[in-house]
Amino acid sequence: MIEAIDHIGIAVADMQSALVTYRDCLGLAEVGRERVERQGVEAIMLECGSSHVELLAALGPDTPVGKYLVKRGPGIHHVAYRVDDIERTLAQIVDQGVRVIDSEPRIGFGGSKVAFIHPASVGGVLTELVEPPRGGES
Ligand code: CO
Repeated sequence: MIEAIDHIGIAVADMQSALVTYRDCLGLAEVGRERVERQGVEAIMLECGSSHVELLAALGPDTPVGKYLVKRGPGIHHVAYRVDDIERTLAQIVDQGVRVIDSEPRIGFGGSKVAFIHPASVGGVLTELVEPPRGGES
């Protein structure tokens, strides 16, 4: 079911200064970026071994990440686990009483399938499941 930590999502107040920190100072290579207007977020994925760091910047204050930044400030936003079969994993954890935000997977970064688990069920940690696209890089 869970294979690895796929990425750590980090909410940033300013994408350019975050890139200076993570890409230029820490040396993590940028492997993709997406601007999702519907969710009001710009995401940049950086490679870290077989895992990734996902930088998340809000496109406005009235967006999920924007509200998070107002309430909590910049920092770790979510932890994402890589799974081989997201439908099966979701069904298994819902069976065990875990509260999910997405009861059906939706399309996430790079065409992956993703679903979020409610932090109330994971000790206060917003948790994402990710099934990489078939034939794509993981
Ligand atoms: Co994520």
